[in-house]
Amino acid sequence: MVIEGIITTENPDGSPHLAPIGPHVDEALTRWELKPFQTSTTFSNLRRTNRGVFHVVDDALLMANAVLGRCRHAKELLPLSDSFRASFENEHGWVLVDACRVFGLEILRWDVSQPRANAECRLTLNRELRAFWGWNRAAHSVLELCILASRLHLLPHDEVQRERERHQIIIEKTAGQRERAAWELLNRHLSQ
Ligand SMILES: Cc1cc2nc3c(=O)[nH]c(=O)nc-3n(C[C@H](O)[C@H](O)[C@H](O)COP(=O)(O)O)c2cc1C
Repeated sequence: MVIEGIITTENPDGSPHLAPIGPHVDEALTRWELKPFQTSTTFSNLRRTNRGVFHVVDDALLMANAVLGRCRHAKELLPLSDSFRASFENEHGWVLVDACRVFGLEILRWDVSQPRANAECRLTLNRELRAFWGWNRAAHSVLELCILASRLHLLPHDEVQRERERHQIIIEKTAGQRERAAWELLNRHLSQ
C-alpha cells in the first residue's frame, strides 16, 4: 500500500529540499520503499546521500506549496540534529516541525533500471510529534489536485478541467481556511 506525505532531502549545498512523495509501505509502517522519478531533485538528493525524512502531515496548504515548489525556504524546517539531538547528533536531514509523524529513512538498496527508481529503506527514526487533526473531504480533494498538478504534462486538458470542477464542489462544501488557500494556488496552476 501507499502512504502519501512529504519527504525532505538535503541539497548538495546543505540546504533542505521538500517534495510530496508516496512511499510503498506495509500496514505496520516497518517496510519502506521510495519510488522517486529519476528526473526529480528528490531522486538526485536521495541517490547522493541515501537519506530522507518522510512526514505524515495534515496540512493541505503545505502539500500544495510543496508540489508547486514553493517551499524552498520553509521556516518550519529544522535540522534533524536539533530536533532529536541525543540520537541524531551526527545525522544530516531536515524535519518539518508541524508534521504529525516523522520517519527517518536510510536507503539500503537501489534499483535504477526504470525511470521511476526503487529504493529499499531502513527506518532510522519513527516519532509522533502531534496528533493527526482528522479527515476532511476538502483536504482529500486538495491531495488529488496536487497529484494532478504534478502530472499536468502527462494528462489531457479536458480530464484536468473535469477533475478540477469536481473537486471544487467538494472544497466549497467542506474546506477551512488552509484548504481554501491551497485551492486558490492549485486552481491558478491548473487553469494555465
Ligand atoms: C501525493 C503525491 C505523491 C507523490 N508521489 C511521488 C512519488 O512517489 N515519486 C515521485 O517521483 N513523485 C511523486 N510525486 C510527484 C512529486 O512530488 C513532484 O513531481 C515533484 O515536483 C518532484 O519534486 P522534485 O523534483 O522537487 O524532487 C507525488 C506528488 C504528490 C502530490
